[in-house]
Amino acid sequence: QTVYLKDYTPPEYLIDSVELDFDLDAQHTQVNSRLTMRRNPESAAAGVSLVLTGEELELISIQLDGNPLTESDFTINLETMTIQQVPQQRAFVISIENRINPKANTALEGLYLSSSMLCTQCEAQGFRKITWFLDRPDVMTRFKTTLSADKTQYPVLLSNGNKIGHGDLANNRHWVSWEDPFAKPCYLFALVAGQLECVSDSFTTMSGREIALEIFVEQHNVDKCAHAMQSLKNAMRWDEDSYGLEYDLDLYMIVAVDHFNMGAMENKGLNVFNTKFVLARPDTATDSDYEHIEGVIGHEYFHNWSGNRVTCRDWFQLSLKEGFTVFRDQQFTGDRTSQAVKRIQDVNALRTRQFAEDASPLAHPIRPEAYIEINNFYTLTVYEKGAEVVRMLQTLLGAEGFRKGCDLYFQRHDGQAVTCEDFVNAMEAANGVELSQFRRWYSQAGTPVLTVSQHYDADAQQLHLTIQQSCPPTPHQPDKAPLHIPVKLGLLAADGSPATFVINGQQQTDITLNLTEAEQSFVFDELAEKPVLSLLRGFSAPVNLNMPRSLEELAFLFKHDSDTFNRWEAGQQLVVQVIFGLIEDLHNHLPLHLNALVVEAFHSLLNAEADDLSYQALLLTLPDESYLAGQMTVIDVDAIHHAREFVKTTLAHALEDDFNRVYLIHHRDESGKFDADAIGRRRLKNACLSYLSQLESSDSYTLILAQFEQAHNMTDQMAALSVIVNSQHPAKASCLDKFYQQWQQEALVIDKWFALQASSYMPNTFATVQALMQHPAFDMKTPNRVRALIGAFSQANPVHFHAKDGEGYRFLADQVLALNTLNPQIASRMVTSLAQWRRYDKGRQKLMKQQLQRIVMTEQLSKDVYEIASKSLA
Ligand code: ARG
Ligand code: ZN
Repeated sequence: QTVYLKDYTPPEYLIDSVELDFDLDAQHTQVNSRLTMRRNPESAAAGVSLVLTGEELELISIQLDGNPLTESDFTINLETMTIQQVPQQRAFVISIENRINPKANTALEGLYLSSSMLCTQCEAQGFRKITWFLDRPDVMTRFKTTLSADKTQYPVLLSNGNKIGHGDLANNRHWVSWEDPFAKPCYLFALVAGQLECVSDSFTTMSGREIALEIFVEQHNVDKCAHAMQSLKNAMRWDEDSYGLEYDLDLYMIVAVDHFNMGAMENKGLNVFNTKFVLARPDTATDSDYEHIEGVIGHEYFHNWSGNRVTCRDWFQLSLKEGFTVFRDQQFTGDRTSQAVKRIQDVNALRTRQFAEDASPLAHPIRPEAYIEINNFYTLTVYEKGAEVVRMLQTLLGAEGFRKGCDLYFQRHDGQAVTCEDFVNAMEAANGVELSQFRRWYSQAGTPVLTVSQHYDADAQQLHLTIQQSCPPTPHQPDKAPLHIPVKLGLLAADGSPATFVINGQQQTDITLNLTEAEQSFVFDELAEKPVLSLLRGFSAPVNLNMPRSLEELAFLFKHDSDTFNRWEAGQQLVVQVIFGLIEDLHNHLPLHLNALVVEAFHSLLNAEADDLSYQALLLTLPDESYLAGQMTVIDVDAIHHAREFVKTTLAHALEDDFNRVYLIHHRDESGKFDADAIGRRRLKNACLSYLSQLESSDSYTLILAQFEQAHNMTDQMAALSVIVNSQHPAKASCLDKFYQQWQQEALVIDKWFALQASSYMPNTFATVQALMQHPAFDMKTPNRVRALIGAFSQANPVHFHAKDGEGYRFLADQVLALNTLNPQIASRMVTSLAQWRRYDKGRQKLMKQQLQRIVMTEQLSKDVYEIASKSLA
């Protein structure tokens, strides 16, 4: 059942071209496919039989070169069709007719029904649920697709490439033909059919070609496409400016669908998107939604080069396209908004979520070596850590060298299906460097730890720095070899200004150290006074730092570090240390007391000048409970919550005037404005509001309720509702009700309504979640809704999900088993919250393990759920 990277062999057959005819119907779609094939000269295999993949297909007929095949010529099992004999010396044609039922397809891979439209999701292996094929990314072919369907139900018929013909048929039916001139693997195939409105625009490329841009949505969403369209144009321009990459077809289409397992999909010329990452109007979408939409639109657009023109040889190479493309979308968003803020958000997500994956039984390298179900490997590790690995290459090679490497990569491999190794080779060749040790980042799992010690020698005016690296064991990898780790650093003088130092005979104020050994020492000369070290600037490598720091030193860096990332990080670590002190006091039943240093640090922050207000808001935000949990040997969710709330409430009381003042300065009605200043004002003001809500005073409630009542934008409305939901305010129920009434027609807003309640810390949350499962608007077949309710409860509500009685775990397992039959991909995502069971106390361990065992023992478990649950227990 397990597939191994080491078993890779080239395909035995190639497909030169394919013609697909779809006779579309919600329940009985007929697919006719004509594959022009031949032996692959590169394949050493001796076999003459042809094995095609296909799942859940009903065969109507099959022919070889026009001659019908009979039962003795081929065999079909659950996942394959084997044709005993095909010509070895010449091309041949396989013609297959089969039937599928999109409406019964609740797994949402292959062809399925979303609301009233038909659409496809083929990555990674959904095409085999459409027709028999060589469903592997290294088989690239040219597609010609004809769609026919009822004209009233399916007036719009889309597929990849260019429209080459259309016409009417009898019985109110019509047809449209599409041809994609670029050879592609079948995972990039797409079709869409439905009653869709088209929002159109155009883009002129750097070489002067005019590209038609079309966004297709249901009628009631036409008023929410402007931002997505602008984002697409921004992305197209950015890829030209930053990478010299231009779009290739004459048409770029995006379709938004309500039912989607992931965020979006980069099908050639025809992206299919979760509505969540397309639709936005100031009153329905938050500032973060706006940013995510631009980011995801960019991500899918950038895939046209990093993914489609150059694709993956096999699915073990997934990070080749995903890590690189995430890196590209991060750069894009940073350029469009604030590099400082974007970097902090990305690192924060990486450290809370990917580091947890790395520390769990599900840990795997960015290039995994084995899988049971590939859909389980669309992970934070492959995506986000993969992006960090690309970022380290850029750090090591410099921006110019990195760009040269990218140019060479695209030049060498355009039109090919390649490997991570090819990517690193191009980086080496373009820069004349050697990256053999760096390659270990692709094969070693786990988060490395850097243990740092320093010593200042006043007589010699030297700073001695020693860094040791190690990496905890992960499944199948007990011992790790040292990695090549770029460590950016700077030094600060006593007055907070950058300190100049000499290293390797060069005078500098900052440097990137190359860490390659298990332990290395560095000497910084000509330092007349003891400097303060700012290490791992910009989070130059995805590692944990183990470096003793005094609170004073952290407060100093929080005030003065010129590196925006490390300045934020100093504030975080200051609070982290304080919170862990408080947790110890809690464990020892001691009264809590907040260190004055923290109050002072926040006080001066609130009184300092700031130009990037979004950044300022981040500086004010306390570390997440899940980040804190990741730092604890035995996670104590209640103590974490209690200690963090104590810090927040104490700060609110001590700095009430500051929070009030800053709130009022930035509180104004500028709905519909999405420039950095307006967004920054909202973020900063709402950060203050969140502190003020801790006071539970009538003044603070007045402020909050007024904001809720008067908000004309979703950011402010949600910020207010969120603090109300996490309070005991008597108006809570009526506010929630009002919000629901106002937005019941807007599915994406109702998702927020579910998620907010599911992540509430208030005592009766579990009962609320159970009640919401019965709400008429809840639907197990809609992934966004499942993520909003079950996902938010199990992933964003540590206190209630980990309730001591184990009811949260039992609830989750119930839902996983219900989803297992409906939608295995979504089900297996939900299981991951149990994977970390070893990190909790004995009592909780036992309860979590029981539910995992219950899941594994269930009959007819999908591969998806089986893999995650069984690995979690291993
Ligand atoms: N390639 C898509 C993206 O990241 C993700 C699609 C993954 N789908 C899946 N079913 N595993 O842009
Ligand atoms: Zn992607």
